[in-house]
Amino acid sequence: MATFSGFKVGAALEAADGTVVTGCNVENATYGLTICAERVAMFKALSEGHRQFTRIAIVADTDAPTPPCGACRQILWEFGGDLEVTLANLTGVKGTHRLTDLLPLPFDARLL
Ligand code: THU
Repeated sequence: MATFSGFKVGAALEAADGTVVTGCNVENATYGLTICAERVAMFKALSEGHRQFTRIAIVADTDAPTPPCGACRQILWEFGGDLEVTLANLTGVKGTHRLTDLLPLPFDARLL
């Protein structure tokens, strides 16, 4: 639902049991309350009871792949741990990363 930017992103998050939970970015009139595809997928998965995750794919119709924003990296780390993060566009996979490489020295509950 990229109503305002037209920049459509999709995410597919795999839970440890093999279930794939998808999400898209959801924009709204405030702009600032927009939520990215990755967090939609993670929050859907958590709401549906999943607690362990293996990997996430992020797809956009762009030449350069779309890496997760800082807020998404934090949420993915806190709930998904060191996920495999695959970036792709409509022609194919452009790269695969570990989340710890995308979010070094993370803040999380262990530090509270
Ligand atoms: N967006 C995502 O959904 N995921 C990303 O990894 C980067 C950005 C969305 C947010 C907004 O709806 C649009 O892309 C432009 O920033």
